[in-house]
Amino acid sequence: MELRLTSDEVVKIKEGEDIYTALKRAGIYLTASCGGKGACGKCRVRIIDGKTEIKSYGKLTHIERESNIVLACQTLPNGDLLIEIPKESRLVVGDKIAVARTKDLAGYLKSYGVGINPTVKRLPLNLPPATITDNISDLDRLRRALDEQGIKGMRFSHEFVAELADALRRADWNMELVYVEGQGIPAEAIFLTPLEGCNRRYGIAVDIGTTTVVVYLVNLVNGEVVDIGSTYNSQMRHGDDVITRIVHATEGGGLNELQEAVVKDINTIVDSLMERHDIKSCEVDAATVSGNTTMSHIFWGLDPGSIREEPYIPTLNFFPMWRGGTARLSINPQSPVYTVPCVASYVGGDIVAGVLATKMHRNPEVALFMDIGTNGEIAIGNNEWLMTIKSATSGLR
Ligand code: FES
Repeated sequence: MELRLTSDEVVKIKEGEDIYTALKRAGIYLTASCGGKGACGKCRVRIIDGKTEIKSYGKLTHIERESNIVLACQTLPNGDLLIEIPKESRLVVGDKIAVARTKDLAGYLKSYGVGINPTVKRLPLNLPPATITDNISDLDRLRRALDEQGIKGMRFSHEFVAELADALRRADWNMELVYVEGQGIPAEAIFLTPLEGCNRRYGIAVDIGTTTVVVYLVNLVNGEVVDIGSTYNSQMRHGDDVITRIVHATEGGGLNELQEAVVKDINTIVDSLMERHDIKSCEVDAATVSGNTTMSHIFWGLDPGSIREEPYIPTLNFFPMWRGGTARLSINPQSPVYTVPCVASYVGGDIVAGVLATKMHRNPEVALFMDIGTNGEIAIGNNEWLMTIKSATSGLR
């Protein structure tokens, strides 16, 4: 059977399949807050020609029914159909959207009394090449050079050591060591890079919202916010709010689909920012990602199912450091990827980032922080106590 659209597109539809599912399979997305459950009433289409079986009219008014409007997720064709998708029912994702362009990160850090001090550091090294008389192992040679610079106790992962022999010889023993070190973080070697080619230093900060994804490109040397890019979160194809996303991830078996959608959104923005500023992926040294607890779980490919069920427990609140390659981000595959920790199932890293940015946790005055998006969170408190509450806000919009 075929669905013909008034916009001239033609979509195959299987026996027993509803219109919403067939359109989605063909890459035509309708607004579907409830994810195809017949509850939100948003996936409206008009039947121009053909016979249908209607499971439910849901919230449709009498006048809408008279005008042959149906809910796509509740309507099955009995033969070929000609349908019209009203403009308001089509979901357009991937569009660029405007965001506030606050670029004075250095000024902000100064107000905190700190300078630019990224946890990812680079150290130029010029090692004496191995000879028959200086025949210590590659790793001992690197350790000896670090000792001479007063750096002791650095950790080396299997990934780093596996690349070591090749990286040293490719760079002719003259390169930069990229490593992470910060308050409470023991120094860990990340990768070696030749002195030529990849020595500018950038980082990305990613805000995964339920509706929008925003990426900030930051110069790690001077703290300048070089550019900001954003797009709608493509996961909206599977529902507007976190609950419908969780349902799609668990009952719909769509966790991989949701993870791929958000990773693709991030990479689309990162690629366009790098192209615009002529930056190579190997020059993006670090990424920090924040989102609500469900978005962070989906980004990590973790089943968010238990967030929705009593006693409402996430798999993780503190996420280990990841690598760009493991997270499938189009940055240096060895670069560390940090995820801002969450507080609980419904108070995520986005709120933690907001509290940190406003400094309300440092001030004696009681302050109120509100994040009103697809979901709404409020934090109240000062440098002695903090409380948070969350609720859906879609009813307010
Ligand atoms: S009513 Fe069809 S997607 Fe919500």
